Amino acid sequence: MTTLIFGGQVVSPQGAAPADVLIDGEIVTAVLAPGAADALDVQADRRIDATGKYVLPGGIDVHTHMDMPFGGTFSVDDFETGTRAAAWGGTTTIVDFAVQKKGGSLQEAVDTWHAKAEGRASIDYGFHAILADVNETSLKEMDVLVDQGVSSFKLFMAYPGVFLSTDDQIIQAMFRAADNGATIMMHAENGAAIDQIVSRAVADGHTEPKYHGLTRPIALEAEAVNRATQMADVTGAPLYFVHLSSGDAVDVVAKARDEGRNVFGETCPQYLFLDESDLARPDFEGAKYVCTPALRPVEEQAKLWRGIRTNDLSVVATDHCPFCFTPDKQLGRDDFRAIPNGLPGVEHRMDLLHMGVTKGEISLARWVEIAAATPARMFGMYPKKGVIAPGSDADIVIYDPAATQIVSAQTHHMNVDYSVYEGWEFTGKVETVLSRGEVILENEHFSGALGRGKFIKRDLSQYLV
Ligand code: URP
Ligand code: ZN
Ligand code: ZN
Ligand code: ZN
Repeated sequence: MTTLIFGGQVVSPQGAAPADVLIDGEIVTAVLAPGAADALDVQADRRIDATGKYVLPGGIDVHTHMDMPFGGTFSVDDFETGTRAAAWGGTTTIVDFAVQKKGGSLQEAVDTWHAKAEGRASIDYGFHAILADVNETSLKEMDVLVDQGVSSFKLFMAYPGVFLSTDDQIIQAMFRAADNGATIMMHAENGAAIDQIVSRAVADGHTEPKYHGLTRPIALEAEAVNRATQMADVTGAPLYFVHLSSGDAVDVVAKARDEGRNVFGETCPQYLFLDESDLARPDFEGAKYVCTPALRPVEEQAKLWRGIRTNDLSVVATDHCPFCFTPDKQLGRDDFRAIPNGLPGVEHRMDLLHMGVTKGEISLARWVEIAAATPARMFGMYPKKGVIAPGSDADIVIYDPAATQIVSAQTHHMNVDYSVYEGWEFTGKVETVLSRGEVILENEHFSGALGRGKFIKRDLSQYLV
């Protein structure tokens, strides 16, 4: 089966240019000057007209939590509903977090996640591993996982008693990563200090959702980013900060990068588009916006956009971790500490970042870079993923920049009963999605078979400062 996508603007980190894309089976075989296919008399089994549209490498969301036990419940998208929703939003690859249990092994975590994804995912997927129990055994297992294509490990400086690793554990994991080439991913917030602030608030009777934000100060994010950066410097491990939410945190990353160190930052659409006032919504609606780090004062948003432009923030991923308003978020009706932390978002990342383009925050080229090309390079999937070039997987999104859509939980494809963007009008919309050459979304119809998605055995990071 050969496919020719013609008439569109192919977008890459180098810019946008009119070009036609030829696909044979699952793979891109040529990117041709407009008209060249006809001049060369290229015959294609299928021709897709992309006139007036962008032709993008499929989005790569390197931060999702499908079917994850957390906060006394499970995130409500599994690999079926979550990957389908991702595809509707123009994402053709996710990297999800396999969670080690306390007392359990990393291998067990990865095996469990393979079982969750196999037969369900409709787009390709990889795994990071969450190190929840750093000990002699799990440190050795890091090497084994790297050989299995799980080449990045998330550690937490937050969530004492649940996921938190102490500094001695963190530095051991970093030494190991420095040896085996893996990337350390860090949730940087000073969890021990935050817990004390939380206890004081609750003792004063402050139990509403807005106190989730008020008890997690930016200073304790920036402090943890700094501490982790110094430990990474001492050990030589590459370090990738997930979900950075504040200008002060980005400043620490920027300084390290200016010194030439392999330190990278990710942020998420919720920190670019939502703010702490959402946590104060009445009638417990604020619970819908409880995620960690917390939504920040609105003035942080401009600092994050700037960080994206300066490449101090290299990637935008979603941290998709959906819980239903009823029953899940209700667990914390009387005490914000019991609200499961996380927001739904896997479906809307490409559209929200496109809004960054239309608002003049980023260029078209930067959109594709932070949403596809850099995630692929950072997590060892490039050039199989993240680029439209001969030899790459034909993961391609045809995007209509002029179409509009109104977001609603009634019409979105995530398995969650609310949207944090309810009623928002987006300019731009995914029209057609190809995953490894197969059209899986077209004419508002999703046709990706259950389980067609394949596990991606990732290499080490190919990304340097
Ligand atoms: O609130 C969040 N972010 N939930 C998911 C877990 C994490 O820390 O990434
Ligand atoms: Zn986290
Ligand atoms: Zn810089
Ligand atoms: Zn997360």
